[in-house]
Amino acid sequence: MGDKIAIGADHGGFSKKEELKKILIEKGYNVEDFGVANEDSMDYPDVAHPLADAVATGKCPRGILLCGTGLGVSYTANRHKGVRAALCWSKEVAALAREHNDSNILVLSGRHPTLDPVEEIMLTWLSEDFPGEPRHQRRIEKIEL
Ligand code: RB5
Repeated sequence: MGDKIAIGADHGGFSKKEELKKILIEKGYNVEDFGVANEDSMDYPDVAHPLADAVATGKCPRGILLCGTGLGVSYTANRHKGVRAALCWSKEVAALAREHNDSNILVLSGRHPTLDPVEEIMLTWLSEDFPGEPRHQRRIEKIEL
């Protein structure tokens, strides 16, 4: 099995989550699906909190979250100490979210247009490392209260 990755979405992100999960499995990732399992209306914190906790505690080094806009799951995940959840709308932003912010959760919109397809944004985010430049490391350390 390859790298472990958590994925989760509310009803607004369910269908995109299923598409992305298929790609991750094809690419050999060890995917842990935090739900949801259908498009029934639900509350996004009920998925985002457990996934963010798994990332914050190191059970899953990286995660992907979706909701309609991407905003609700971002607010929720970023409440967890050590989580840097990045809502990305292009490949360029996804690369910077790794290179500059060492983001550990990628957030995508399930319902609204992005500059690049979400599949490409995800693959870019997964392929980028955090080079750990001192100025970026310093800024990341200043995030935590
Ligand atoms: C659900 O209708 C929608 O509010 C949710 O998916 C998300 O966009 C919230 O931020």
